[in-house]
Order: sequence, then C-alpha cells, then structure tokens
Amino acid sequence: MRVLTGIQPTNVLHIGNLFGALIPAVELQDEHELYIMIADYHSITVPQNPETLSESILLNAAAYLAAGINPTKTVLFQQSQISAHTELAWIMQSQTHMGEMKRMTQFKDKSGDKADAVSVGLFTYPILMASDILLYDAEGVPVGHDQKQHVEITRDIGQRFNKTFGETFVIPKPIIRKHGARLKSLTEPEKKMSKSAASAKSYISLMDEREIVHKKIRSAVTDSEQIITFEERREGLYNLLTIFSLCTGKSGEDLAHEYAEGGMKNLKDDLATALSDYLDPIQAKMKELLENKDELKRIIANGSVAAEKIATAKLVEVKKKIGVVL
Ligand code: TYM
Repeated sequence: MRVLTGIQPTNVLHIGNLFGALIPAVELQDEHELYIMIADYHSITVPQNPETLSESILLNAAAYLAAGINPTKTVLFQQSQISAHTELAWIMQSQTHMGEMKRMTQFKDKSGDKADAVSVGLFTYPILMASDILLYDAEGVPVGHDQKQHVEITRDIGQRFNKTFGETFVIPKPIIRKHGARLKSLTEPEKKMSKSAASAKSYISLMDEREIVHKKIRSAVTDSEQIITFEERREGLYNLLTIFSLCTGKSGEDLAHEYAEGGMKNLKDDLATALSDYLDPIQAKMKELLENKDELKRIIANGSVAAEKIATAKLVEVKKKIGVVL
C-alpha cells in the first residue's frame, strides 16, 4: 500500500506529534511504500519568521529520522520543492464548495473570533492538503485525530473529480491509531496538546530535558479522586496513563492497576522517568543529525526529486483531463 503523511514544520515538536504521527509512520515503513512530507507551504498560512522557518524544516526532518525513518526506504521530502502541490491545489479550489470549507472545525478553532483577519490560505488549506495526498495516489494517510476531517474532505474532493472527469485519483483512507492519536494538554486536559498553545507547560517538547519533563508532568492537571483508574471521563489522568502506556508498551489498564493504591505522585514520577528514558535516544540522534545540516538538506533534496516524478506525472494527467493541455 502507498502511504503518505505530513507535518507542518514548527520550531516545537511535542509528544502528541511523536506518538500521533512520527512513531506510527516508523511502524508503517517496513511494510508499505511510505512518503513523508514536510508541509512548509502549510506553515505559511500563519505569519512565520523566515529564519526560524528554514530551521524548523530541518528540525522536523531530523525528528522523523531520529524517530526511526530510514531515508533509503522512505521518501522524505519538502512540499515547496515540488510545485505540482500548489498547482493541483489551484485546480482543486475550483472543485471545492465554500460550504465544505466552512465546515472545517480546525479553521474555526484556529481563526477564533478574528476570522476576517486571518489569511485566506488558512481557510483554503485543506484543499492544499487534499492535493498533497491525491497527487501520490496514497491509499492510507496516517494522522492524529485532529486531521481526520481533512482526510475526509480529501476523499470528497477526489471523488467529485473522478465523477466529473473520469477515474483519476485513488481515494485515501485515514489511518488513526487507537491510543496516542489524541494526546491532551497537560494543563487543560479537555483541549488537545498543541504547539500553538500559549503555555509551554501544556506540552512536552521532544527537546525537553529530563528536569523539565519531571516538572511538567508533576504539575499536570488531574482530578481529586484518590484511586487510579483508566477511564476516559478522567481526562487528565487518562492522558497521563496513555502517555505512560505509549512509552512502556504496557496497557493503560495494567498501569492503572499497578498504581491503583500507590498514589498520583508515584505514578507521575515513574511516568516522567519512563518518558525521559524514551526521549533520550531520540534527542541524542536529533542533535547529531542537526550538526550536519548539509547532509539533512541532501536527504530532503533527494526525497523531493523522487517525489516530484510521481507528482508531476499525476498533475499532467489532471491537466489533460480538465482540458488545458493543447
Ligand atoms: P500538524 O503539523 O498539525 O501535525 C502533525 C501530525 O501530528 C498529529 N498531532 C497529534 N497527534 C496526537 N495528539 C496530538 N495532540 C496531536 N497534535 C498533532 C497530527 O494529527 C498530524 O498527524 N495538515 C497537517 C499536515 C499535512 C498533512 C498533509 C498530513 C499537510 N499535508 C497530507 C497528512 C497528509 C498538519 O497540520 O499536521
């Protein structure tokens, strides 16, 4: 199966990205033909500092490689190096209804009460994401839960095109893992863990050092019930047990049982240790990779050349179908 996924480069990557996107991609690479895209043209839908943006692109590529992506097996590429993405997005904008875009919950969340002051790109961004996926005839798209609606709209846009112009695109399915696809904020566990959150206490960054991890986990919001149980209604605790489960391989239920009487403090201390142990080798590898930026750039450029061949062929097919190739 051909599988494609992407990440918006930002200077912070958190454990939601790690467990919701990076690790699931690594798990898929042995059995599938995997494409991973650094979606830099998605990032510019909100203001970016140009210097930080180029650093973030390399940081995100390094994170995927440090998590276990093997660039000789998987195609790791940069969206902006392949103009077919934005070109197909333009064609697809004309195939997408205003009403469909208005339903996108992430736009509503991100624009908040200043919908008239955000960029048009932030509004049409799901069409670029649909184009990213459709260009490669990807069958599966591994993402965290917050991107599910965008994969669904991709299906709708692809199906509409196929119906109007004849079979052109493979219609993709989201691949969302059961645990870890929806990690929550440590300070407001009813909200998702997010890199754009106001407080750095709400997430664990991939680069957080041991002491910081301990501090943040210790101050994570839970509830006042004494017994430890693994139940979704106990949002803060459920989130901590989910993270604990992801970095130890034990189930949330087993961990709750193990700590049932031992109290929250023990649970938090052991979780912080397990999480730091999990992050240690990834951090070391990331640092090593970031010391050789030329090599990182070479990997991204090679991946982009390979991806471009597929993307361009599909774009030519689309242009013929809509009648602009004379
Ligand atoms: P982005 O950059 O916001 O997030 C990257 C990936 O991390 C997942 N994720 C989470 N998973 C679990 N818990 C969380 N709290 C959490 N927060 C984020 C996201 O679901 C995502 O899988 N539009 C995409 C990037 C993109 C893309 C694509 C993805 C562009 N084109 C094509 C797939 C296919 C985005 O903004 O993800």
